[in-house]
Amino acid sequence: MAECIRRVAISTGGGDAPGLNAVIRAVARTGFGYGWDIFGIPDGFDGLLGKGRVERLDQRDIRGILPQGGTILGTTNRGNPFHYPVEENGQVVYHDLSDRVLTRAAELRLDALVVIGGDGTLRIARDLARKGLRVVGVPKTIDNDLSATDVTFGFETAVNTATDAIDKLHTTAESHHRAMVLEVMGRDAGWIALASGIAGGADVILIPEIPFDIERVCRKVEDRDRRGRKFSIIVVAEGAKPAGGQSVGTRLPDGSLRLGGIGQQVADQVAAGTNNEVRLTVLGHLQRGGAPTPGDRLLASRYGVAAAHLVARGGFGRMVALRTPNIISVPLDEAVGHTRTVPLDSDLVLTARSLGIELGAE
Ligand code: F6P
Repeated sequence: MAECIRRVAISTGGGDAPGLNAVIRAVARTGFGYGWDIFGIPDGFDGLLGKGRVERLDQRDIRGILPQGGTILGTTNRGNPFHYPVEENGQVVYHDLSDRVLTRAAELRLDALVVIGGDGTLRIARDLARKGLRVVGVPKTIDNDLSATDVTFGFETAVNTATDAIDKLHTTAESHHRAMVLEVMGRDAGWIALASGIAGGADVILIPEIPFDIERVCRKVEDRDRRGRKFSIIVVAEGAKPAGGQSVGTRLPDGSLRLGGIGQQVADQVAAGTNNEVRLTVLGHLQRGGAPTPGDRLLASRYGVAAAHLVARGGFGRMVALRTPNIISVPLDEAVGHTRTVPLDSDLVLTARSLGIELGAE
């Protein structure tokens, strides 16, 4: 199969994650080894809809990018070619432009496309593969919520950033005898909150998988007060919600929910329900930026190399995945099957509970 491949493109889609450049570098280097021409698609699938220039990447383009956050190709989480927003007569209407992607790929004489993305991007890749595009997927998201792989790159760096924030909040919380609320990312899954909360020694961790009772949170803070520990650290995933309540965020014109605000809600309720002074920190996109950790560079490099070899073997419509200790491949269909949330009986949840961390419910 290897001899059929000449021209391979790489695209990065969805929210960025530290390690994207390491994947691009690994795909390109392995591809150069096969003698392929490698192309960079700008801004996700937008670059195959006639926006921006598709450039050939050479050794110079990928030099020095291994430790860089972001993506040298650019990305977007708005450009679904199957449901593409177009303004017509002052109104936004949605069109299926997927055929244009296939036409553009044919014009560029691409033999394969390596798509690096999360659930949304890989779903589009799967649907394009069904229409005949020769696609290989690479799993990415700081949220670590893709079901077919043990872990996604970018997660470890995000956990590092969040843990560092908790460490810093600890010293100021203790000095001022305050409760500090830290809102971290995690739309449907609480992996970042749970991992950084345990690593940072948080007192309360609230995750989307465990709808919380604010009374329990207040009681935990007051118990600590009574024991002379006059400060508390409360880590809240952006997707956490009270029992019987809804996720907090802003409804966007396309109907989607931009999460954010649960931290404020928790901070207000803890301030009202305890004698503590409370402060809120929203970590936001800091978790998506910065240099990838060595672990993420390594995982991203392994994924990139495996994706290029998968292209060479003709493994289209598949995604590379980590099944420790090996990198395997799975059908894209399986990869986008369901969100990998934190199992309630998982070791991480048991660890948190055994350490006395309040999770907001039994
Ligand atoms: O998917 C990762 C993620 O970081 C989510 O946790 C978060 O809700 C979302 O991206 C925010 O994306 P953006 O602000 O770029 O639209």
